[in-house]
Amino acid sequence: MKIRVINGPNLNMLGIREPEIYGRGTYAELESYIQKSAAALGVEVEIFQSNHEGDLVDYIQQALGAADAIVINPAAYTHTSVAILDALKAVGLPAVEVHLSDVQSREDFRRVSYASLACVAVVAGLGFGGYRKAMEILTSKI
Ligand code: DQA
Repeated sequence: MKIRVINGPNLNMLGIREPEIYGRGTYAELESYIQKSAAALGVEVEIFQSNHEGDLVDYIQQALGAADAIVINPAAYTHTSVAILDALKAVGLPAVEVHLSDVQSREDFRRVSYASLACVAVVAGLGFGGYRKAMEILTSKI
């Protein structure tokens, strides 16, 4: 099973950005955590991060025929991007939305998620562990 793990804007700043919310782990550490979790679950992962909405849309589209499922943390685009929602719907692959922080207990605008309308589950507030949980959900569904 192949999973594309897709991370949106500012996640490359992990470890530096708002550590009281997102923790002190760096983006490189997140990538290594995802790789190790995937190996433990027996799945293959490709990890991608971009600060650009169109690049995220392209990468979702290119998952068609290249991956079996998607884990996505659209970051701020969660709350704004119909384009990412439409791309997820277009490829129709099982997808799980992940957030490091508990978006439901933060500002009101973070409670809105467009991407979740195309996802089988949303995992939030578990830090890095949310990515493993998302992969577990997908392996149990496929
Ligand atoms: C985030 C939550 C978003 O609201 C925020 O814009 C992010 C990160 C999270 O992982 O907790 O950039 O997706």
